[in-house]
Amino acid sequence: MSDNQATLTIDGKTIDLPVKSGTIGPDVLDIRKLYGQSGKFTYDPGFTSTASCDSAITYIDGDEGVLLHRGYPIGQLAEHSSFMEVSYLLLNGELPNQDELANFTRTITRHTMVHEQLTKFYSGFRRDAHPMAVMCGVVGALSAFYHDSTDIADPQNRTISSHRLIAKIPTIAAMAYKYSVGQPFLYPRNDLSYTGNFLRMTFGVPAEEYEVIPEVERAMDRIFILHADHEQNASTSTVRLAGSSGANPFACIAAGIACLWGPAHGGANEAALNMLREIGTPDKIPHYIERAKDKNDPFRLMGFGHRVYKNYDPRATVMQKTVREVFDALKVNDPLFETALRLEEIALNDPYFIEKKLFPNVDFYSGIILSAIGFPTTMFTVLFALARTVGWVAQWNEMISDPGQKIGRPRQLYTGPTQRDYIPLDQR
Ligand code: CMC
Repeated sequence: MSDNQATLTIDGKTIDLPVKSGTIGPDVLDIRKLYGQSGKFTYDPGFTSTASCDSAITYIDGDEGVLLHRGYPIGQLAEHSSFMEVSYLLLNGELPNQDELANFTRTITRHTMVHEQLTKFYSGFRRDAHPMAVMCGVVGALSAFYHDSTDIADPQNRTISSHRLIAKIPTIAAMAYKYSVGQPFLYPRNDLSYTGNFLRMTFGVPAEEYEVIPEVERAMDRIFILHADHEQNASTSTVRLAGSSGANPFACIAAGIACLWGPAHGGANEAALNMLREIGTPDKIPHYIERAKDKNDPFRLMGFGHRVYKNYDPRATVMQKTVREVFDALKVNDPLFETALRLEEIALNDPYFIEKKLFPNVDFYSGIILSAIGFPTTMFTVLFALARTVGWVAQWNEMISDPGQKIGRPRQLYTGPTQRDYIPLDQR
């Protein structure tokens, strides 16, 4: 890390600001002393120019379309690794050796059951509740069940809570689906992989054996890898901010799930498939492209554009390839894939999208795969939450273990009334 200085002149006063460098990526101006020295805050709603923390977990170069987890390119991880291995990597900083991976997988597998009383929560929800609403509630409720691991100052407690969250989230997600379709919950099975177990708990029924299709298991596992972490996005920042007050990790992850639900973030995968269904056939694409470009129309191309990527999202590349693999394995062919490919081609050649550097993101193709596997659109964001839990947990751990960690407390540019006197009700 090399430290330089930047100089800022405000009201004729010169202030030196340290410039900090990471291992790669843009340098940052350390403005922590700015208010004390100048009486002024910086202003950056939406955090377009603000680094909120140090982190050694994930690196994104949005201009080049690069995504690295602990230094490893996402394409390599998606091709050669497994979700369990990537989870270990995100949590621990290094790829596991065979024993480490076996131990980690065994630990996660043995935590997949949820407290039996937790299953009662589901019946408090309407059957037609959105499964993300159910996830917010049930994951939040975990803190009422696992008191023995919520001492966040204790590293062992933090590890146990982390393992519990990663292990139980597929069970909770599958139960949210089962509840919505009126089928009985299935208990996890320890002889299956993390992803195979999730597929069985979701699509299996007690009346017969469920056969995990290896190609589908592999595709699903890859989708989990692609969603595992993504630096300081909105939901991860939400988890960090919630955790900065000392809140327990189950409550923090529930906060992350709530944030993820929005259509500008994780909800975009559901919105993208709904959009493709609305467009239907390629001949309707020009109409929707015009709508997306019209400033007076709120319509946006869902699954397109990204705050950080100003190039092709590397996750979308893998996702597009995975569509074909799943179609081949299941011997299906969704015509919406052709519509999506054509939409991408038209958008990428349109001056509006070129000028604004809008490319397909991770959500553009994922819905087509998930739909082919059998998930209803309402479950798409739940799957994102399932996979992102490992990233949230890794980022939360990184924050809590930092000895310099402080409560997150942004300031504001106040635009309300200045001080005025209260007027009694009968005089108003
Ligand atoms: N369709 C049409 N125009 C768009 C789109 C789009 N999908 N995305 C951005 N623009 C335009 C936008 O109107 C703006 O134009 P102008 O400069 O003329 O006002 C410009 O591009 C910049 O957009 P922005 O909203 O200021 O950019 P942002 O960084 O705040 O937003 C985004 C990023 C992802 C919220 C946005 O691109 C978007 O709404 N995309 C659709 C939703 C989506 O796919 N979200 C998933 C993101 S990836 C997964 C995840 O993070 O969860």
